[in-house]
Amino acid sequence: MNYSEQTLKERLAEKKIGSVVRYFQEIDSTNIMAYRLALEGAPEGVIVVADTQTKGRGRLSRAWYSPSGTNIYVSMILRPRIEPAMASQITLMAGVAVASLFSGYCPEGVSIKWPNDVLIRGKKACGILTEMKASAAGVDFIILGIGLNINMNREDFDLSLRDTATSLRMETGSMHDRLDVISKLFDFIDKWYKVFLRAGFVGLRDTWMSHADILGKRIKVIFKDEIQTGMVTGIDNDGTILIEGENGVIQRVIAGDVHLLGEENHAAGH
Ligand code: BTN
Repeated sequence: MNYSEQTLKERLAEKKIGSVVRYFQEIDSTNIMAYRLALEGAPEGVIVVADTQTKGRGRLSRAWYSPSGTNIYVSMILRPRIEPAMASQITLMAGVAVASLFSGYCPEGVSIKWPNDVLIRGKKACGILTEMKASAAGVDFIILGIGLNINMNREDFDLSLRDTATSLRMETGSMHDRLDVISKLFDFIDKWYKVFLRAGFVGLRDTWMSHADILGKRIKVIFKDEIQTGMVTGIDNDGTILIEGENGVIQRVIAGDVHLLGEENHAAGH
């Protein structure tokens, strides 16, 4: 169940993203290290993997709990030739890749909570954190960090997370070899990143929609000091969600924390 730099390199040698592996038994954060390597000029496809992180970073300045010997913490350097405004679509691409991965283990119940949580039976099993360096000329690089809960048990999670987090082991009833899982992850990253580069979010949209759990539901989105509420009517070709407010006006939402409101939901797509 333990992986090493050597075994990771062997398993990922043929992948486009992941062909160059930097492995650390312990690190502050794979995103921080990947960012540093990218600043030094490391090319697209270099990945940073750690067995444990001492300062794993989550969204909105939260910490990402990163115990050793059990989960996957990986960050990859991407250098797509896209406008900075399109960078959030990389997060959606990663959500589709992880949802495809999890669906191979759990054919039912894998969903994506916009913009970037992947859930199994309603509980979070994956977090995605993208960080970007860009200028007026375009994106220099994007660090795509993914944390996958693989072999944790319920009691391994902090009390505050036990009702909302899960792992592949908890959902399938068996342990998983992290090498197998990370190898499959990069098959899906290669596949969906290629689609994204060719067609943009439009190429992923149908698969994203098939896993979306907020279509037709009433939500509240909190972004900084702003709160928007309404019913989700769809997702646009650029990855922004569309919310119909009480006044019937459609608002476009590019980022934020989503909270479901009440049970008075409507059928998806209506
Ligand atoms: C979230 O808050 O949902 C995002 C969590 C992202 C965690 C991953 S683990 C690998 C990479 N390194 C980090 O420090 N964070 C990301």
